[in-house]
Amino acid sequence: VVFSESSIGSRSIAMEIADLIRHKQSKGDVCVLGLATGSSPKGVYNELVKMHQEEGLSFHNVVTFNLDEYFPIAPISSHSYWHFMHEYLFDHINIDPENINIPKGDLQESEVRKYCLEYERKIETYGGIDLQILGIGRTGHIGFNEPGSHVNSITRLVTLDQVTREDAAGDFYGKENVPRKAITMGIGTILKAKRILLMAWGESKATVVGRMIEGDISGEIPATYLQQHHNTTVVLDTGSSAYL
Ligand code: GLP
Repeated sequence: VVFSESSIGSRSIAMEIADLIRHKQSKGDVCVLGLATGSSPKGVYNELVKMHQEEGLSFHNVVTFNLDEYFPIAPISSHSYWHFMHEYLFDHINIDPENINIPKGDLQESEVRKYCLEYERKIETYGGIDLQILGIGRTGHIGFNEPGSHVNSITRLVTLDQVTREDAAGDFYGKENVPRKAITMGIGTILKAKRILLMAWGESKATVVGRMIEGDISGEIPATYLQQHHNTTVVLDTGSSAYL
């Protein structure tokens, strides 16, 4: 779907999320959301906060699982995704803190493997992710599933691509400060979501968006695996759709 502006696209994504939350509420069900970080979803979170404040949208039945987190990183670090999510969403809505799941960046490396399996299992205990939102990185990554990621990969510790570390350099005041690793949900984890909305805004994403949608399915551009998912919509603006 192509919108003339990212703000309208963000609003349409927020409306689909709100509709799902309300639908689940009407049935007394939990709504399981998979959440993303980066600049792309900021507009969506802003809309959801407005819907909470102005229309009384309640998040009491919402459980969230974030895609990824840098490793190692302290949750309270201003660069962590834990910090990002609280700043842009969780601090402004009525979600139960117990229902927030973000991969832990401050574990010992020896604890990570077991932790990642527990993260996968926890998603399953809630019946899987109802709606997963995604951005896309310049390498074609979703979450932090860099080129070379396997279609069946699960939550795990990964090494970040140099391009990804360059793109994050601004946030960390220099590439040398960007962590070399991250914990990310796998491609397999993401593909199990019942509904996926990937958003990309601006011309800087046009090349990778073209390859994701029109290119062959391959681990070289991990986002191409979404072509195999039965219920994914890619939400674009004029800039990001320029090469389609
Ligand atoms: C990071 C995140 C991704 C995100 C990507 C794009 O690498 N781990 O989940 O999609 O950045 O970021 P942006 O939305 O800022 O372009």
